[in-house]
Amino acid sequence: MALDLYQYIASIPDYPEKGIIFRDISPLMADGEAYQEATDRIVAFAQDKGVEMIVGPEARGFIVGCPVAYKLGVGFAPARKKGKLPRATIKAEYDLEYGKSALYMHKDAVKPGQKVLVCDDLLATGGTIRATIDLVEQLGGEVVGCAFLVELAELNGREKLKDYDTLALMKY
Ligand code: PRP
Ligand code: ADE
Repeated sequence: MALDLYQYIASIPDYPEKGIIFRDISPLMADGEAYQEATDRIVAFAQDKGVEMIVGPEARGFIVGCPVAYKLGVGFAPARKKGKLPRATIKAEYDLEYGKSALYMHKDAVKPGQKVLVCDDLLATGGTIRATIDLVEQLGGEVVGCAFLVELAELNGREKLKDYDTLALMKY
């Protein structure tokens, strides 16, 4: 029987600021069976999309995206925070549920026309994933889907993803 993945998410009130309920994926990552099942469900979602590359934003997008890339036998390209990438980059700015930031990718990280699945742990306001999609599209990539472990539905991040096939394994 399929695992109840909700049992592997810890909810921490007032972290990192008052009023935020932090949805922590570390218990899921710490359990081999749950981590594998979450990965397999995203792989199943990706199966008929012709995915050629996975892109994930720092840092938790790496945790979700890399095992999916491994299973699909495709590459992974990171969208990173300022000052982390050593070669020529492109940039996209965004607002967070708490704070403001920017993401960068190497200019050659995605090839024009490549079909990309964007992966992250959590969809909140959608700022991070929107910036990641913008980076992929600046490089000429085609985003064929977005996959998350967790969606915070009341923050309406999906509004920013109307044009994309989007999977969230858990919703709060
Ligand atoms: C968190 C989370 C998502 C993003 C979701 O990342 O991992 O990437 O926020 O929020 P949004 O939908 O409102 O943009 P964070 O920027 O905290 O970085 P981290 O993964 O390095 O902890
Ligand atoms: N990233 C943005 N909002 C978050 C939340 N409520 N829990 C975990 N990660 C987040």
